[in-house]
Amino acid sequence: MARIVLGVSSSIAIYKACEIIRQLQKKNHSVQVIMTQKASQFISPLLFQALTGNPVLINLFETKETEKIEHIELARKTELLLIAPATANFIAKMASGIADDFLSTFYLAVNCPVIVAPAMNEAMYLHPRTQANLQELRRQGVIICEPERGLLACGDEGWGRLAEVEKIIALAESLLTSSFKWRNKKIIITAGPTREPIDPVRFISNRSSGKMGYELAREASRRGAEVILISGPVNLPSPYGVKVIRIETAAEMKKEVEKYFDEADVVIMAAAVADFRPAEAMTSKWKKNQGIPEIKLVATEDILDFLATHPLRKKKILVGFAAETQELEDAAREKMEKKGLDLIVANDVSIPGIGFEADLNDVLILDRQGQVIRSGVKSKREISQLIFDVLEAYLEKAT
Ligand SMILES: Cc1cc2nc3c(=O)[nH]c(=O)nc-3n(C[C@H](O)[C@H](O)[C@H](O)COP(=O)(O)O)c2cc1C
Repeated sequence: MARIVLGVSSSIAIYKACEIIRQLQKKNHSVQVIMTQKASQFISPLLFQALTGNPVLINLFETKETEKIEHIELARKTELLLIAPATANFIAKMASGIADDFLSTFYLAVNCPVIVAPAMNEAMYLHPRTQANLQELRRQGVIICEPERGLLACGDEGWGRLAEVEKIIALAESLLTSSFKWRNKKIIITAGPTREPIDPVRFISNRSSGKMGYELAREASRRGAEVILISGPVNLPSPYGVKVIRIETAAEMKKEVEKYFDEADVVIMAAAVADFRPAEAMTSKWKKNQGIPEIKLVATEDILDFLATHPLRKKKILVGFAAETQELEDAAREKMEKKGLDLIVANDVSIPGIGFEADLNDVLILDRQGQVIRSGVKSKREISQLIFDVLEAYLEKAT
């Protein structure tokens, strides 16, 4: 049983909100409706009030003097915000952070999973602006319950029809279940490359873009975990709701992982940490006229080795990544055994278009229980979801 807020905007599909409320109630959830002003012109708030037993919220400035600031108070208690149907206008407001009514202000105030189920005419749905807004919402960690193709209210056949109510309910249920599992769990995720200085302007690094680690952090946060992202230098925005710690060198990354390790339940090492560094970083820039410098390399300290032998190791789940160029599965299994990992995610970085720097990836996920899962070529966002599904199942078996 969860406290769900259903946000309703002024799409012709608004009548389906009644069925959504009934279905959520059947699963024993309590439902509070917030409508946009225009939605209340389509359907009387009285109908939703009668169905839910709660007064419908529309205006921000109608709170009774004795009450606390209502949108903030309600936001604290809400376990899932579901916006269905979501108009193109409302999606645009969410994407840009406009907060000019109760529902849009509420969206900015909640710290719980958010699902948006768009419903609109095909031209509006496929408009590049709407697509960009949906992409921005995904970036903010919102789950989009993709609309379907079918007969639309305008009489056209096309994309933009509100997803089937069953699909919306199933998504809400699965999100609630996984957010209950991850609540009160702390995850450390490392991402990106490290930079090992040669002199104040030059360094040794690698081609990691950090995209996989950042998607994992976003997914972990979306599932309700507290996330600490320890990131090498990357060109990516911080995922919403995630504590980001920026470092440069492998030694700095190790120091930060050590600092948070005691309190973490899960550690995912997605960073491409340098294996070697210059033995001495020069304190001033090596000039060209000084000739070609000889750079002696030494091994960096291995973070996974440190974690594997830590006294608290057995209380944690350790996930490693392996970037290989041949015999992927064997190499990954060997690394999992050697480093004592619970799970390893292996990708073949020799295939063009996937892995390093790319938006796509194709991974093998191996666990200690002998399971091997191949993702197939997917976006790093989808792969991070798959990794968390596997991790959830692993956690369940392990506890
Ligand atoms: C009959 C009618 C049906 C509409 N259906 C939709 C719809 O399905 N999807 C949509 O994005 N906008 C739809 N609109 C347009 C929105 O109501 C309009 O953009 C409005 O400003 C959105 O306000 P809101 O997002 O605050 O509810 C419809 C308008 C009318 C008059």
